[in-house]
Amino acid sequence: MARILITSALPYINGIKHLGNLVGSMLPADVYARFQRQRGHEVLYICATDEHGTPAELAARAAGQTVREYCREQHDIQKQAGEAFGLSFDHFGRSSNAPNHRLTQHFAKALENKGLIEERTDRQVYSVDDMRFLPDRYVEGTCPHCDYEKARGDQCDNCGRLLDPVDLKNPYSAISGSHKVELRETKHLYLLQSKLQDRIAAWVEEKSGWPLLTKSIAQKWLKEGLRDRSITRDLQWGVPVAYEGEARPGFENKVFYVWFDAPIEYIGATEEWALSNGQDWESWWRTDKGADDVKYVQVMGKDNVAFHTVSFPCTILGSEEPWKTVDALKSLNWLTWYGGKFSTSEQRGIFMDQALEILPADYWRWHLMANAPESDDASFTLEHFASVVNKDLADVLGNFVNRITRFCKARFGEEVPAEGAYGEAEKALIAELETRAAAYAGYLEEMEFRKAFTELRAIWVAGNEYLQVAAPWTAIKEDRERAAASVRCALNLIVVFAALSRPVIPFTADKMFAIFDLDPETAARWPDDVGAALSRFKGGEAFALPEVLFAKIEDEQVEEWRQRFKAQ
Ligand code: 2FM
Ligand code: ZN
Repeated sequence: MARILITSALPYINGIKHLGNLVGSMLPADVYARFQRQRGHEVLYICATDEHGTPAELAARAAGQTVREYCREQHDIQKQAGEAFGLSFDHFGRSSNAPNHRLTQHFAKALENKGLIEERTDRQVYSVDDMRFLPDRYVEGTCPHCDYEKARGDQCDNCGRLLDPVDLKNPYSAISGSHKVELRETKHLYLLQSKLQDRIAAWVEEKSGWPLLTKSIAQKWLKEGLRDRSITRDLQWGVPVAYEGEARPGFENKVFYVWFDAPIEYIGATEEWALSNGQDWESWWRTDKGADDVKYVQVMGKDNVAFHTVSFPCTILGSEEPWKTVDALKSLNWLTWYGGKFSTSEQRGIFMDQALEILPADYWRWHLMANAPESDDASFTLEHFASVVNKDLADVLGNFVNRITRFCKARFGEEVPAEGAYGEAEKALIAELETRAAAYAGYLEEMEFRKAFTELRAIWVAGNEYLQVAAPWTAIKEDRERAAASVRCALNLIVVFAALSRPVIPFTADKMFAIFDLDPETAARWPDDVGAALSRFKGGEAFALPEVLFAKIEDEQVEEWRQRFKAQ
């Protein structure tokens, strides 16, 4: 049994996440976590809300709440949405909680002790009317690259470039709209990443198993040369720049930059989990305390890769303390909304709560994962969604379960028939499923989700094809034993399908186990031996007819949703 630590990029606190966010980090991490648990490994899947920084402050202001209240409320909303989507976090923490404060200050101090922190004086945008500095998104103005007039201080939404607020043309305050802004001097702490260039390069080099997208992003940053970066901001909300309870002189009104503290919350949230479960977090994170044998897997969208392959490693490796670092890093491309951007600020696309108002989680989970943006960006359209659901879930999987349980009830009653023995058709099916199930598990292990779910779909199809060939509805006329054996095989197949499908469609898998009154926790053990699994029911086991597992999506529904979500 291996110990596997999984973290998915921490969702920003400002509002419920859209389907693009979901498939970009939390959902693939969940599928992987569920798979590894079913394989019998000890899994710890950690996530949290990323609560600091200007997006949180601005969103709280827009909502007319204090940032503390806003974050508490939004955290609960995101936590509930995650549960409703079946995201099986062992803990969903908060970066504003005490463990992250302590750890962030600890790392800053450790880096300082290693001579990797320097105090520098910067010139930053200051709003005279608001009487404060305007870091990051607190300034808006015209993009120096593309002339877009509503570029934010840290990034232009039009051309996507990362910006420094001082480079904006015609800057104004995002708080008051005031143009009375000027550059003023302010002190900040810089992490001297340039000194860590060789160490990070060597560390990246060791990571032979990283996928191409991940490695190439890391190497691009290394090639450009690591730049020292400011890790503090002139803000109130965040982790105070203080060590052992004492503010760093001159930094009384400053906090650490959100991208400095956010990844540290992976550790902080593990500590939160340990505190509330009487567990030990250090054995997951400290290589001197047992974390040596942990496999650590991170999942994130491509925009986060540089922060996880370069910036966070600078924090961790720079401390020269025995922390666990990432082993496997899965990064995903973008899911687009009809070829354009999903957008939280412009409320474009479908958000997690809205998705569940329309259809149960598994419909979305299957579609998103089977079409995950892995090798390239992928476009979400309602038309494609409907066609995938109708074909894969309703026609193939749902129909299989429906057809065989109904047929059995009509001809043999509500229990697994015991008569007859498996023959050639069953042998051929077992051989095909053994090959496919092994390939499927291999792809899940590699986190190659599209390939994995192409294989799972083929497994479901193989079940349907088997039924076509075995045709118990015809066989029963002449050879009742033959018909009984194939019905028994197909009923066994429902349980095998449920176990194999559970990482991606957990709610449906549990309904499938419920047909036979099986406890999912034990029944879902990974079927390494498909042949043995197909002989689980020998005959005489009772079952209950299930409701229809998946309803087909009608054209009228697609049209209605197109209107509702302004699809074009
Ligand atoms: O891009 C984002 O959504 C960030 N909130 C991800 C943070 S990941 C981690 F480092 F905390
Ligand atoms: Zn621009």
